[in-house]
Amino acid sequence: MTPMTSTTPPTPPVPGEPALPAGVVLREWRSGDDRALAEILPDAASPAQLAARALLREPGDSPLVRTVVAEVRPGSASGPGSEGESPAGAGPAVVVGAAAIAESPAHPQRAWVHVEVAPEERGRGLGRALLHAVLAQAQDTELSELGLRARVPAGEGVGESFARALGFAELYGTRIVRIDAGALGQAGADALEDLQVIDTGSVALTRAFAEWYERVNAADPAAEMTLGQVNMRFLSEAAGARGAALWRPAEADDPMRDTDINRRPVTAFAVSFAQEGDSAGEGGDPESVGGSARGGAHAAAGVAGTFADLSAEDWTTPALSAAGGEGATELTAGSVNGDPQDLRALLARLSVETSVVLEVTSQMETESAVVDSLLDAGSAAVLAEYTTLVRDSQDA
Ligand SMILES: CC(C)(COP(=O)(O)OP(=O)(O)OC[C@H]1O[C@@H](n2cnc3c(N)ncnc32)[C@H](O)[C@@H]1OP(=O)(O)O)[C@@H](O)C(=O)NCCC(=O)NCCS
Repeated sequence: MTPMTSTTPPTPPVPGEPALPAGVVLREWRSGDDRALAEILPDAASPAQLAARALLREPGDSPLVRTVVAEVRPGSASGPGSEGESPAGAGPAVVVGAAAIAESPAHPQRAWVHVEVAPEERGRGLGRALLHAVLAQAQDTELSELGLRARVPAGEGVGESFARALGFAELYGTRIVRIDAGALGQAGADALEDLQVIDTGSVALTRAFAEWYERVNAADPAAEMTLGQVNMRFLSEAAGARGAALWRPAEADDPMRDTDINRRPVTAFAVSFAQEGDSAGEGGDPESVGGSARGGAHAAAGVAGTFADLSAEDWTTPALSAAGGEGATELTAGSVNGDPQDLRALLARLSVETSVVLEVTSQMETESAVVDSLLDAGSAAVLAEYTTLVRDSQDA
């Protein structure tokens, strides 16, 4: 294993390199570190934190991930012992934190970063040193050319303070909102002929989604994707998508009003995602449970800058139910034409009897307006809220 340059406290640090707290050494990831981290970190308080923690994983090249682990080696206050060992009789080394940087194939201009430190080791400079070390670790990879992106619980908590102190600035906010069954009343009820329930493989759906996704992610541009790639990444069974509906209105004087609905423009769309443990329609097939778990995390973790870039096994946590959305239909829904009435009509028809959970970012103007009006009316609730921050230079 390559010894890391930052494993030599308390000798004076190289200028610009943060000093490590005494007794702490940094090293590369080893098998078993995921379990060690799970033991020392508190339970994740939000789906966003669960998703971010999934980044603390074995380094690899596909996706490109680099990870650094901090451990305390008892009795090594004057410096680390031999690589991977504590001095004789001093007891085992204890993992106390980690940092990771990972590529983000769906949003390739920036890489995800996440740092986490055991509560009792916080406030001593370890988080700063871990971030510095993981960036150094990625220096010889394509990650070094990318901006950085982190996601933290909203509300100016410690995660946000830390990110800001390290030069990150807010890019957008995300809310996961539960809309109560019936909250949108009769909207769209007199225009049921404008509603089209459709297969998630539909080209019209994929086109609408692709156009919307590009627009609402302008601040963190999406990778160029073919329609097939868009469908595979976001709308396929493997992505957890279960069903879809389109709003395709025709003007009263439109000669196409009575013609095939497939020829009308799509003005709003919604895709439903399966939740973990939701066996409806799939007969409890283990494959579909895997897909469901990922789908559940898909919306909770963020359609904008989604962690769905990572592999399916990262999504074994019931992210949506962690947010309090169990029993609801999880939707990704968007307005294609910017008309809130069409989106309201579509959502109303999909939430007659079941509440729905929707993710909106501050970049989604029409969707945010619809959600805000329901929050004001008391017929929706915010289940989770987080902030995405970015730093576009790695030398802060
Ligand atoms: C965020 C976290 C990694 C910080 O770890 P840490 O070892 O305590 O951080 P450091 O001691 O290196 O602090 C670096 C800077 O962050 C800021 N910071 C850290 N803790 C803070 C707190 N409780 N309140 C306000 N600012 C804080 C300070 O500006 C600090 O710089 P300073 O010491 O020069 O004032 C740790 O609190 C944690 O694991 N939190 C949960 C996970 C998380 O939110 N991670 C951030 C995602 S990138």
